[in-house]
Amino acid sequence: METTYIMIKPDGVQRNLVAPILERFLAKGYILRGLKFMNVSKSLAETHYSDLSAKPFFGALVDYIISGPVVAIALEGKDVVAQARKLIGATNPLASAPGTIRGDYSIEIGRNVIHGSDSVENATKELALWFSEGLVDNNPVLR
Ligand code: CMP
Repeated sequence: METTYIMIKPDGVQRNLVAPILERFLAKGYILRGLKFMNVSKSLAETHYSDLSAKPFFGALVDYIISGPVVAIALEGKDVVAQARKLIGATNPLASAPGTIRGDYSIEIGRNVIHGSDSVENATKELALWFSEGLVDNNPVLR
């Protein structure tokens, strides 16, 4: 079974969108394997976004991610990496379809509410980075 890394960014937390965003993933049927409300160190933010370190917006992106607490989430389910990206919508909220999380809740690419791993390989790396303590066993009888 696949697991992905999702992060509700500081703007999502500050705008009280944690519950409605979580609701979408859990109602869809994904299983929680990790959930943390946490402040992010500069080095963790820089490591997470290291692929973007040459981009002109890298410094602003790191400052944004460390500007307030985030919610780090590990979600398990069939094809969850790709399916969660569909629920999240395009990176630029102006290109995100209505009904997606970014399409419904954001208008600025630099304040786009949520992150989701873009590949199974990156999900594995990001889960190891954000949940180095390991994931929580969660095998509900309902599954
Ligand atoms: P995320 O899905 O977390 O992956 C990379 C992040 O970089 C992206 O969401 C945006 O928050 C940010 N990003 C991408 N492009 C831009 C841009 N042109 N200006 C500012 N931030 C950007």
